[in-house]
Amino acid sequence: MADVAEDGHTWLLSGPTSSYALHLTPADELLHLHWGPRIGLADAQALAESPPPGHRPFESPLDGREEYPVEGGPRFTRPALSVRTDERRGTEWAFESYDSAGDELRLRFRDDGVEITLHYRMRGDVVERWVTVANGTHARVELLRADAATWTLPDREGWRLSQLHGRWAAESRLTTAPLTYGEKVIGSRRGHTGHQHLPWVALDTDATEESGEVYGCALGWSGTWRIAVAQLPDARVQITGGAGHDDSGLLLLRPGEAYTTPVFAGLWSDGGFGGASRAWHAYQRAYVIPDADRDRPVLFNCWEATKFDISEEQQTALAHRAAEIGVELFVVDDGWFGARTSDRAGLGDWTPNPDRFPHGLRPLADRVHGLGMRFGIWVEPEMVNPDSDLYRAHPDWVQYRPGRRRTEQRNQLVLNLARDDVREYLWERLDALLSSAPIDYVKWDFNRCFTDAGWPGEPYPQRLWVDHVRALYALLDRLRAAHPKVAFESCSGGGGRIDLGVLSRTDQVWTSDNTDPLDRLAIQHGFSQIHPARIMAAWVTDSPNTQLNGRVSTLRFRFVSAMAGVLGVGGDLTRWSARELAEAGRWVALYKEIRPVVQRGALYRLRPPRGGLSAVQYVLGDETVVLAWLQAQRHGEPAPAVRLRGLDPTASYECRETGAVHRGAVLLHHGLRTGLTGDLDAAIIRLHRI
Ligand code: GLA
Repeated sequence: MADVAEDGHTWLLSGPTSSYALHLTPADELLHLHWGPRIGLADAQALAESPPPGHRPFESPLDGREEYPVEGGPRFTRPALSVRTDERRGTEWAFESYDSAGDELRLRFRDDGVEITLHYRMRGDVVERWVTVANGTHARVELLRADAATWTLPDREGWRLSQLHGRWAAESRLTTAPLTYGEKVIGSRRGHTGHQHLPWVALDTDATEESGEVYGCALGWSGTWRIAVAQLPDARVQITGGAGHDDSGLLLLRPGEAYTTPVFAGLWSDGGFGGASRAWHAYQRAYVIPDADRDRPVLFNCWEATKFDISEEQQTALAHRAAEIGVELFVVDDGWFGARTSDRAGLGDWTPNPDRFPHGLRPLADRVHGLGMRFGIWVEPEMVNPDSDLYRAHPDWVQYRPGRRRTEQRNQLVLNLARDDVREYLWERLDALLSSAPIDYVKWDFNRCFTDAGWPGEPYPQRLWVDHVRALYALLDRLRAAHPKVAFESCSGGGGRIDLGVLSRTDQVWTSDNTDPLDRLAIQHGFSQIHPARIMAAWVTDSPNTQLNGRVSTLRFRFVSAMAGVLGVGGDLTRWSARELAEAGRWVALYKEIRPVVQRGALYRLRPPRGGLSAVQYVLGDETVVLAWLQAQRHGEPAPAVRLRGLDPTASYECRETGAVHRGAVLLHHGLRTGLTGDLDAAIIRLHRI
């Protein structure tokens, strides 16, 4: 619950180690006071009473100090809120009231009939913020921009910005650079979260992996978005972000309508980048990811093995092999439906292909269940191939602009999910599909960006960008409610739709189409900055790698790489030798033993993947697991010892691999030799506290 100072206008929210404070002045200016270590109400009040900065010619007294800068008046920063009515533009708000019911603090403002509510909620040390704008007037209100939050950092010198950039098959690359004056803007103009940036930033001045202050912000939205990090003329830093890629129109609010922004979550940590990541992971496991206490099964996915050339018989053969090595969930990827024999046809027709599955999916699903595995399928509901029954029947159901080309990517168009009839069709089809066979799992894909986001006949087609995401969320929510035992994976050509919004309604994500085990280490390193291993699906595929780069690697290296997340297998098991299958079986069995520690433990990045030896460690209760990879060894340079973290220096730890007993203090200070040699070697070390 939020604490309120005696003045009635200073609010303080606190988590286990951090606090957040804000203050309303008599002139209804909402000022940011504090975000950082825990403070008391008296401290917040002292901050509220500290004198404002003196007069600065050509500068605003408000810039860099406000909780949520609106458009208009003496402000020169990028506005978080931009509103237009037939008569006016911008906002001049008056404070109305606040309440702090439960764990949420709400501050209400009004500008004529436009009601603006700022929401705050502490989740552990994560501050969740979002905003509601309601049209209480009798006229239309155009919302040009409504960010979810603006975050203000304390005065410091030398801020650095870390971000996760990428592209298809090379997602979540961590990069850090000094912040300079002006703005750094990241986002997506593509209709989905995008491979190009995860909606996360972290700012620090001198943090290391395990110490120092880190401020992180992550947005929960799966459509277009923007986060702007600004270093203002007085060097103060503010971060503003929300849905939508520009300020040209988010929604038209008719009288009585309201818009609620996505959540923009902020985390302060003084445990360095590692501590910040562990806090983000704990937050997502506790508050975001459904059923996060339940470990995810080992899956097999047929995509790399069979591509579009699939049949019931061949899938059955693969299922036998998968069951033999201990797989728990068998997933039929693309190619099971409609006329989908290549990527040129079939999207939109969500009924089993009668040549390939003459009796539907049930016989295969039953066989898979008979082998002791769960059964899953791939879908891409938001898309349609022009060569499909759905498109032939409803060519107007796609996003398009009259008089303009309908841009195809991967031979497909985007359905306009903002339309009621499209939403209803998808609900009926998917509900019927999930009822037609015992399906336990759905890989939900999204394989192209928006290019022609038009909606002929709709007076305010801009709403399509927001309404598409809302429709996706509503569809997922409705399907989950109707089929509570079905798990969902978010996929978008690999990691093109990973964010806190989709994660609150999916069980895991497909991290990347890049299944090369070495490339994956860099992707996983970036991914782990914000998201936990519990959702990070990773497959062991064939060597040489068929999907991308032809790299040759051992089963050992491939398995240990994929065991850092939710293990899957995606190779052509019908071509694996008896020896390979037996070895795979041993790795899968080992994964099942370490799985609770990997999926639910605290993650320590011991050494980043920069060419030589890299390692991660997971700690859960008395169990510790270390995964280590050696990319290449130079002659005369033995792989260094790996110093462990998160252990009790006074305790002893028994290595399950060797039986050796190690002192905690020694593991922490001197480290452990992994025994890795040569190129692309890998090891798993399990330690048990005794
Ligand atoms: C996307 C996914 C792949 C696979 C194909 C199927 O690219 O990321 O894993 O499902 O689609 O077409």
